[in-house]
Amino acid sequence: MANSGSGDSMVERVVRILGAFDRGHTDLSPSEVARRAGLPMSSAHRIVGDLLRTGLLERDLEGRVRIGMRLWELTTRGSRALALRQAALPAMERAQAEIGEHVQLGVLDQDEVLVIEQLSAPDAVSNVTTVAGRLPLHASSSGLVLLAFGRQTLRNRILARPLPPVGPSTITDAAALGRRLDAVRRDGYAILAGSIESVATGISVPVADRAGTTVAVLSAVVPTGWPRERETLDALRRTAQTVSEAIADYGILTH
Ligand code: PHB
Repeated sequence: MANSGSGDSMVERVVRILGAFDRGHTDLSPSEVARRAGLPMSSAHRIVGDLLRTGLLERDLEGRVRIGMRLWELTTRGSRALALRQAALPAMERAQAEIGEHVQLGVLDQDEVLVIEQLSAPDAVSNVTTVAGRLPLHASSSGLVLLAFGRQTLRNRILARPLPPVGPSTITDAAALGRRLDAVRRDGYAILAGSIESVATGISVPVADRAGTTVAVLSAVVPTGWPRERETLDALRRTAQTVSEAIADYGILTH
């Protein structure tokens, strides 16, 4: 792919433009797109024009630009996240009815947890994540599960990096995190209170494929001080087992 003067390829520039949109910035003026993407106005305008013509971006009545439904269609229909989500959804619905707070499914992507499904109740505790949201591995119970049951190379890489605090009790010391991961591996679950927000506690268990490899993580986000920790963990474990069987039955390729 042709490179620009600044050295980044066309695909990289397109990704930067699409990445300019997020939950707090669902519609942008063309100049806001350029600024948020860190691209010169002329090149951003040209690429935005191409993306509008192909439907990957759409223009609203005020002339502001947003992510197009065509992009959602193309990315969703061939996605392994969709297949995994569909296999998991019936069991997740049962778990959410039982637990009553947030129940979510995440996968490892680019050294972060990517949330691919989330079911909630209207009065559930505050939760920083939504579908397609990301969580740092070291600061979330879902991340601890993916680290504890993931490859040694991933664990080494994360432990060698700075571990920035996210909430009042994020583990920021590599040795302490290593000990905690050993415990998660031994226990088969992670419970982390106040690591992201003081009010919320994450409870997470691994979801394995037929070969026993951890391919996803199932979590409940509950209020800190939650009295039904044991029952919640049991419900998550049962759900994870059902999801594992569904993945095997559907023959879903998870990695
Ligand atoms: C977690 O995975 O532990 C987690 C996720 C989202 C939150 C809080 C905790 O808002």
